[in-house]
Amino acid sequence: MKNRVSQKFVELYGEGATLYTSPGRINLIGEHTDYNGGFVFPGAVDKGIVAAILLNGTDKVRAFALDLNESAEFGLNEQDKPAQSWACYIFGVCREIIKRGGVIGGFDTVFAGDVPLGAGMSSSAALESTFAFALNQLYNLGIEKFELARIGQSTEHNYCGVKCGIMDQFASVHGKAGHLMRLDCRSMEYSYFPFDPTKHGYRLMLVNSCVKHELVGSPYNDRRASCERVAAVLGQEFLRGATMEQLESIKDQISEEDYLRARYVIGEEQRVLDVCDALERDDYQTVGERMYQTHWGMSRDYEVSCEELDFLVTIAEQCGVTGSRIMGGGFGGCTINLVKEELYDNFVKTVTEQFAEKYGHKPEIYPVVISDGSRILL
Ligand code: GLA
Repeated sequence: MKNRVSQKFVELYGEGATLYTSPGRINLIGEHTDYNGGFVFPGAVDKGIVAAILLNGTDKVRAFALDLNESAEFGLNEQDKPAQSWACYIFGVCREIIKRGGVIGGFDTVFAGDVPLGAGMSSSAALESTFAFALNQLYNLGIEKFELARIGQSTEHNYCGVKCGIMDQFASVHGKAGHLMRLDCRSMEYSYFPFDPTKHGYRLMLVNSCVKHELVGSPYNDRRASCERVAAVLGQEFLRGATMEQLESIKDQISEEDYLRARYVIGEEQRVLDVCDALERDDYQTVGERMYQTHWGMSRDYEVSCEELDFLVTIAEQCGVTGSRIMGGGFGGCTINLVKEELYDNFVKTVTEQFAEKYGHKPEIYPVVISDGSRILL
């Protein structure tokens, strides 16, 4: 990918570009908790975006998306928003830097990626983080790492229509090989957890249903709005910290749908804490149980699963997989699976065959390799 991007850059714009990369992410547990002020438990992966970038001394950005074979050219003023949705991520990052007082100019760029799109692995955060990180370096802006993540998040909010939380951009910028990160999305404190399931005879892998998820538009934002309504009735800024008893006590003041959404979120907050405790004891059995609970909560209460993902998780259960659940925003994409070493091959074979038989196409299997965050590629 690195070579393809470099070569295309030279062909289109000449020599001298620097290569930057940012990864996609997995999330062990803590889904739809970030915008509720709760905990998340992500790690960066070995798939991401690579961009060649060179300042061009003009006030225009010239960008080429290698995977799509499409180009865009745009200015840096608010009215210059490009038509192509992929270019809006780059434009949004530029705008968010400028809004924060960063002085930047035009640049040329070619980029490509190997994070599967719409798989719940945050390809868009990888794109945002790549440009936020690169522009910070190229213009010596001195922006703190966490603020780079916020620039990506604000890009989603203000230029892409998704009122996402901070998890994806945080993970992409802060990732560290061999480590998961536990982030408290209220205090924004985080810590790194060494994570190597293979030492304990387990593997972490993703099964991509290849059902495209689409967060742009209402479903994701609707979930967030439900949570905010319930928090408001409880007189809290966030759902974080609310108890099931409190939720029961206001049940007749909220809709049935909002009640179910909040029930999932409150349960999920406890599950993340349980998983952290379990990991301290190398208790992977409990980790796996919580993963299944998260899945069925996301499917039945939060309603962000789909038939194909429920099917994948059911097969995992039947194969004796320790933990399996939908990962990311939902509505398609991947399941994340914690599998005992000795069951791995059989699970891959069974899930591939049974899914293909039912849905007419094979799912994709990705072993999880927990990797570093945003960086220059030498
Ligand atoms: C998407 C959002 C994140 C988070 C997850 C669900 O990936 O971008 O902020 O809310 O969904 O956990």
